[in-house]
Amino acid sequence: MKVLVIGAQGQLGQDLMRVVDGAAVGLTHQDLDVTDGVAVLQAAQAHKPVWVINTTAFHRVDDCEANPHLALAVNAYGAFNVARAAASVGARSLFFSTDYVFGGEPRGRRNPHTEADAPKPLNVYGISKVAGEQLVMHGDPRALVIRSSGLYGTATSRKGWTFPELMLRLASAQEVVRVVDDQVLSPTFTTDLAAAVRRLMNDDASGLFHVVNDGECSWYEFAKATFELTKTQVRLEPQSTAAANRRAPRPPYSALASTRLNAPLRPWSEALADYLSQKGMR
Ligand SMILES: NC(=O)c1ccc[n+]([C@@H]2O[C@H](COP(=O)([O-])OP(=O)(O)OC[C@H]3O[C@@H](n4cnc5c(N)ncnc54)[C@H](OP(=O)(O)O)[C@@H]3O)[C@@H](O)[C@H]2O)c1
Repeated sequence: MKVLVIGAQGQLGQDLMRVVDGAAVGLTHQDLDVTDGVAVLQAAQAHKPVWVINTTAFHRVDDCEANPHLALAVNAYGAFNVARAAASVGARSLFFSTDYVFGGEPRGRRNPHTEADAPKPLNVYGISKVAGEQLVMHGDPRALVIRSSGLYGTATSRKGWTFPELMLRLASAQEVVRVVDDQVLSPTFTTDLAAAVRRLMNDDASGLFHVVNDGECSWYEFAKATFELTKTQVRLEPQSTAAANRRAPRPPYSALASTRLNAPLRPWSEALADYLSQKGMR
């Protein structure tokens, strides 16, 4: 089964290249820009894949707020280009979306968002991904759309670090590490996500799925678990989102759960421990 992976050098893209069969063809940003609809169509026609997986995104949340045109160009129109091109050559298409499509609900929500919940984004990144989801479903009615959250993986992407790596780097450089404790998410190990994606592809799944490691935590709790699992001595202090003073608003609660997956993925803390072991950090 020939699978075209667009965004193959990203952190998730690299894990997906590993889990799909030897027939995977990876295209990097240099090979193909998803905002170029003609080039995307030509790539689909040249490779004749059975699946087209689009992992691309412009996802630096504050930069999206400053540059909504680029956010929409990559995350919405680019996504549409890929889904439509896939459908035109009879291929299945897979688009990744985000927990940031949520967050605009009244404060105080404490039950994870399922596939049945209506999106309510509160920043440009989230809005561009909701638009991407809609356009993908329009361009390819059989598309598979997977929302995930707080990704970290063993592959190094251009971003250069994962959240746990950043925390350990900060802990080695400073006495006090401050992390926001009023944003709750479902951190997810890309190895687990990629394996679940493979299962969904094998099942010929379509429509919307939430795929995250089970459970939820704040970024502060995510950092605390990282320090505990690596036996790192550092003073960790909670910080408010307001004090962090970022350009784009952040969802206070964007944890995800699925009512569609056959079985939940393992708990986020187990996945984090495994990740840290694989990276030789514990
Ligand atoms: N990271 C998270 O915490 C998170 C959470 C939830 C959902 N997601 C979603 O999961 C997917 C994968 O995320 P990730 O963390 O693996 O991201 P990533 O490491 O940044 O990978 C994205 C890849 O897309 C490429 N790309 C960016 N713009 C492009 C364009 N216009 N045309 C072609 N390629 C382009 C990037 O290349 P360059 O780096 O060379 O530009 C990069 O290799 C994204 O759809 C993202 O929205 C991510």
